[in-house]
Amino acid sequence: MHGVNLDQLGRRDSAHYGGMDFDRLQEAIGEWSSEMGLVPSFFQTNFEGEFVEHLHRLDGIADGILLNPGAWTHYSWAIRDALEIAALPAVEVHLSDLDSREEFRRVSVISDLCVATIKGQGPEGYREGLTVLRGELAAAS
Ligand code: DQA
Repeated sequence: MHGVNLDQLGRRDSAHYGGMDFDRLQEAIGEWSSEMGLVPSFFQTNFEGEFVEHLHRLDGIADGILLNPGAWTHYSWAIRDALEIAALPAVEVHLSDLDSREEFRRVSVISDLCVATIKGQGPEGYREGLTVLRGELAAAS
């Protein structure tokens, strides 16, 4: 699940986000998922309520969540509550290294609900996130 402004990858500051555009990132996630035997279902929105409602809809149709909520990460208690309601293993991914950027990006309101937080590895962080999620799902089965 990709949050606000992630659809604009390719137009965003490449010093933080690299040069890969959103479509290519989704393709890469799709390829890594199939290599790992996972079946991805993609979602992106710039509307917080839609992100919340998508989390509500995951019950019974998903085993885990890989999410980058973008800027909502830092302040959306609504998304945090919805993630808690979803009650699925979740991994948080950020392309940029949040700890070396502005102070407000060091706060994540969802981290403690996630089995792992991966940041600063660019697109590769999603591969790492999928690996962690697959391990979590295998351990639970
Ligand atoms: C981001 C980091 C956020 O602070 C920012 O608002 C984003 C992307 C990342 O992937 O590094 O939109 O989540």
